[in-house]
Amino acid sequence: MRNLIKSRLKKLVKTESRYTPGGRQGVVVAVATVKGGVGKTTTAVNLAAGLAEEHGLKVLLVDLDAQGHCTTSLAGVVSPSARAELPISEILLSEEERELLDACVETEIGGLWITPADPGLADAEGRISQKIGKELLLRDALEMTRTHFDVILVDCPPNKGNLTLNALLAADQVLIPTDLSPLSVQGADQLVDTVLTVRQRLNHQLEVLGVVLTRVDGRTVTINEEMRQTIEEAWGGLVLDQQIGINTALSQAQMKGEPIFVHAPQSRGAEHYKALAEEVLQRLEIPSRR
Ligand SMILES: Nc1ncnc2c1ncn2[C@@H]1O[C@H](COP(=O)(O)OP(=O)(O)O)[C@@H](O)[C@H]1O
Ligand SMILES: [Mg+2]
Repeated sequence: MRNLIKSRLKKLVKTESRYTPGGRQGVVVAVATVKGGVGKTTTAVNLAAGLAEEHGLKVLLVDLDAQGHCTTSLAGVVSPSARAELPISEILLSEEERELLDACVETEIGGLWITPADPGLADAEGRISQKIGKELLLRDALEMTRTHFDVILVDCPPNKGNLTLNALLAADQVLIPTDLSPLSVQGADQLVDTVLTVRQRLNHQLEVLGVVLTRVDGRTVTINEEMRQTIEEAWGGLVLDQQIGINTALSQAQMKGEPIFVHAPQSRGAEHYKALAEEVLQRLEIPSRR
């Protein structure tokens, strides 16, 4: 008979939270677009590292893609013994009130924290559908966590599925990376469309921080210029001034598991991501702590 009633009525009685507020007001930025291979993860990782290392901010990089590429990209600066209390998918799907703080580990880059790769996210994509308030799981899990960070960057999977939707509803701003290929631009356009739907139908005041042009090849000037003009006509001031050029040091850094500022601090890639971090801070109106 004891097992008959399993309602969580007791939880309605307010109990002391196990989490304490951190005194910061983290801005949540989703790094998202529908297409893969356009530099989302490279941008999320190096922007996060730049904001932490160059600007003294406390930054959390949330790896929301089951492929776990953020984690691979930072494997060289995370101690192999660093273990989070829970994987992120379990926090999202938990019946208890859990915070993302339990999924974070500290990296060796001062101020930079990360949620480690979680293959369970692939399964979570479907399981989330059955939850009440399925779009708001990440937002809930960040309620207290965001007071512990200045900036929270969420690296999204390359689709408009439940996880991306959770990132958009948890986010204050969305950063959309795209290279100049027609399919990538189309993917970015679809994401802009989703942002509008989220604003209108779900009444969430999500802002577009900007579209960042990535993997820009200096040798194909005419094609680039034509595409850039098309993009600027469509998105105007949303396109960030700083674009990221093609630079092999960026892919080498990713393979080595280091941010570009550690792997090749003098490279063009480092220069571009440093300037992007400054432009992003200006747009977010967050003062540098350096
Ligand atoms: N600016 C760049 N120059 C050279 N290679 C890049 C650049 N940006 C990304 N890459 C490489 O392109 C591939 C896809 O980038 P990634 O950031 O993983 O894309 P996404 O997360 O959108 O799938 C990776 O191998 C990465 O190292
Ligand atoms: Mg990626």
